Amino acid sequence: MTAGSLREKTVLVTGAGSGIGRATAIACAAAGASVAVSDVNESGARTTVEQIAKAGGQAQAIRADVTRAQDVQQLIEQTVKRFGRLDIAVNNAGIEGQIGPTAKCPEEVWDRTIAVNLKGVWLCMKYELPVMAKQRRGSIVNMASAAGLVGMQGLAPYAASKHGIIGLTKTAALEYAKFGIRVNAVCPGLIETPMLERQRKAVPLMAGLKFLQPMGRFGRPEEVAQAVLWLCSDAASFVTGHALTVDGGWTAQ
Ligand code: NAI
Repeated sequence: MTAGSLREKTVLVTGAGSGIGRATAIACAAAGASVAVSDVNESGARTTVEQIAKAGGQAQAIRADVTRAQDVQQLIEQTVKRFGRLDIAVNNAGIEGQIGPTAKCPEEVWDRTIAVNLKGVWLCMKYELPVMAKQRRGSIVNMASAAGLVGMQGLAPYAASKHGIIGLTKTAALEYAKFGIRVNAVCPGLIETPMLERQRKAVPLMAGLKFLQPMGRFGRPEEVAQAVLWLCSDAASFVTGHALTVDGGWTAQ
């Protein structure tokens, strides 16, 4: 994407205090957007804002837990109050849950993973869509996963939540196309972030997955951010209801 492609746009990124969300917030700011950097982890969000400011960009940290309706409602209100509008939302906050077979998944792990990953994305859209519908313009990118397209052994609630995000994305895309709003999803493969690092520590065998990747490596957060940037920008003006894979060919196998 060229510098300035998001000039005068306001972008909200959830889960922007780490990994893919941070890289996306930084890429959007570099493309000229004003960015609301949201996370439940305030210090992570502040670090992202500092990095953006250092590079000459515009950003503000806003704390919100995406599982709490009140937090999300206030997040959208504060973003609009601070920047005047909401052009683009990247609903990225997510957790990995716990690795283990379906029948051994503790109920609280199931509930929490679905609450953050699936309900969180729905709650964000619940408050973003009316603002964008009023503007008759907007673009939403939801962070799904390759695990939203194919099953992943040991990741039942995670895969279920990410499949759910794609269904939700397609439905909202159909409902809001007539309001000038595009809704898409991105499906990353294995990306080098703190989330992947935690999973590697929990299951040391995961490190070997690198060699099963067609490209022989994991992806970088910045590579996902570039796909998000294209999808949320006007360059993708006729793309909606799409789930874009950014997985180095993993799910093509
Ligand atoms: P990460 O763990 O580095 O970052 C996730 C961020 O979300 C953290 O800053 C965390 O504080 C925040 N978060 C967690 N629960 C939250 C809540 N309730 N409310 C607000 N913020 C919350 O993880 P990563 O890898 O950057 O993941 C970002 C997204 O990308 C997630 O949705 C993840 O499922 C997805 N993804 C990641 C892949 C990977 O290999 N790293 C692969 C496919 C998808």
